Amino acid sequence: IKNHFSSSKSSKAKKKSLTGKKILITAGPTREQIDPVRFISNNSSGKMGFALAEAAIELGGEVTLVSGPTSISPPKVNHLISIQTTDELYNAVKKQITKCDVLIMAAAPADFKPAEKKNNKIKKTDNTLSLNLEPTPDILKEISKLSTKKKPIIIGFALETENGIANAKKKLKEKNLDMIILNQTGKGRAFESDTNQVTVIRPKMRPLELELDSKANISVKLLDIIIDIL
Ligand code: CTP
Repeated sequence: IKNHFSSSKSSKAKKKSLTGKKILITAGPTREQIDPVRFISNNSSGKMGFALAEAAIELGGEVTLVSGPTSISPPKVNHLISIQTTDELYNAVKKQITKCDVLIMAAAPADFKPAEKKNNKIKKTDNTLSLNLEPTPDILKEISKLSTKKKPIIIGFALETENGIANAKKKLKEKNLDMIILNQTGKGRAFESDTNQVTVIRPKMRPLELELDSKANISVKLLDIIIDIL
């Protein structure tokens, strides 16, 4: 029995792992309240971020998950932080960034918020209604500007409906990322789905297209690449 245990232990030690690494993952949409009963948000389900968090835990990482409002429950992680707005997400990431080795921004933050939040419900009239929106912070852009002693590896996602690779490359550069994961759109991909198809883009490297797979399997493949970067 002793031999069996020691041999399985040594083979395990050779396997890739995230032991001792702190992984910060954001997931889900954010919500920008228009009035007490209405908000601006998007179709993000949180599934990709949750799958990554689950896989990172499996690999032995210490995971902090910052999640927007989702209809599915988040996986068991070391630290769970719930947020609603993009500003709250930004503050949470800013607070955690100095403590992590890897940041994976799988969240889909709302890019705009109402310039003015009404305290009472907007009543309907026969007229058209215009909402004045102002931009929210671009979290990745702001984070990559912060001068921290130890910069974590920063990974973003990109959702594009046209010119995917070109737009994702632009985001990789502008947001100063170590890697961007381009979500392909279409049936069985991205929003709400349990499956996804992604292309991994890294600076000075050829894009790597992963095949359509479950979000769980894609997470394992992505973390494998992240471990190599680490
Ligand atoms: N992101 C961010 N802060 C925002 C919006 C997005 O940090 N206010 C992050 C997302 O978490 C994702 C990456 O930036 O990792 C790209 O998000 P995406 O929605 O594809 O792009 P945007 O930067 O919002 O640009 P656009 O909407 O013009 O495509």
